[in-house]
Amino acid sequence: MLVLAVESSCDDSAAALMDGPVVLAERSRSQEEHAGHGGVVPEIASRLHLDVLPGIATAVLEEAGVDLHEVDAFAATAGPGLAGSLLVGLSWTKAAAMACRKPFLGINHLAAHLCIHYGGERAVSFPAIALLASGGHTCIFLMRSWTRIEMLGGTRDDAAGEAFDKIAKMMGLGFPGGAELDALAAQGDPDAVRLTMPLPDPATPEFSFSGLKTAVRLLLEKGTDHRDLAASFNSSVAGLLAAKTAFQARAHCARSVVAAGGVSANSALRRALEKAFPGPRPELFLPDMPMATDNAVMVGRAAASVLDSAPLAQSGYSCNAFARWDGEVLETLVV
Ligand code: KG4
Ligand code: ZN
Repeated sequence: MLVLAVESSCDDSAAALMDGPVVLAERSRSQEEHAGHGGVVPEIASRLHLDVLPGIATAVLEEAGVDLHEVDAFAATAGPGLAGSLLVGLSWTKAAAMACRKPFLGINHLAAHLCIHYGGERAVSFPAIALLASGGHTCIFLMRSWTRIEMLGGTRDDAAGEAFDKIAKMMGLGFPGGAELDALAAQGDPDAVRLTMPLPDPATPEFSFSGLKTAVRLLLEKGTDHRDLAASFNSSVAGLLAAKTAFQARAHCARSVVAAGGVSANSALRRALEKAFPGPRPELFLPDMPMATDNAVMVGRAAASVLDSAPLAQSGYSCNAFARWDGEVLETLVV
């Protein structure tokens, strides 16, 4: 079953042609145009998606040698994300589906991040605990199956990636600064500076990252070495995310632990999770590096997970974009 998947929730324009969970071709373009603005400018993001998405989708089809009319179903991220950015990908994909008289699937972005692990060489077994840490979200989910995903807790304020980006900005690094901060941390001593993490109890599946900005600003004003501060921040956040994930994995007798989202590319977090879950059970699933951040493959795999359990599933053509997700049960398909 051929699915053309599109992602445009923030500042990455991406398309993938999938055969079930298998990638036939995929392309993505990160919008570097926001770098000078210190953050994503929504209107610039929407306009760039409009410029580049049709070309990216066409290139993906050409690379796979597939005609648009041979595609069996079309999928696009419906939310959460930047409404204007989402509307571009959604509208393009719906139009393609309507023109070809094929089903359209609107996909929840958070579920899509988790679904990067769907249909891989190693199968996720359930129950699984999922840590989703990105620029917009930081949540722990209990996955009873690919179609039953329950929220255990999330951040009360900033997301982990947002904290990385804000602190990177204070240090004069680029935007988004998570990866640069991670690289800088490799040159520092994590024990040279002590950062107190809010909500440190591993049993609490909730996070708070907004207060860290003030702590870091005060340390920077005192002249603390940027490399040591980056190292301390990196290892403190990683340790906290891993400890809370490990607690929930034990509490729910998890058979798998799944990490996803841009922050799951973080080297300290990957090390901390590998240390917390060294054995075959629970089995740890870390995304391949380019698949941690936003991409269209995860949208295609999310669509595959939906269609494998309900082959006739589809969204209405009126499926709309949404900026926030506040639910307790995560539905992959947005109807
Ligand atoms: O999943 P993603 O691409 O977009 C959202 O859904 O938000 O995540 C982007 C976030 C950014 O905040 C970025 O700084 C962060 O992931 N990120 C990292 C690393 N690579 C990307 N944060 C820490 N360490 C990294 N290596
Ligand atoms: Zn994302």
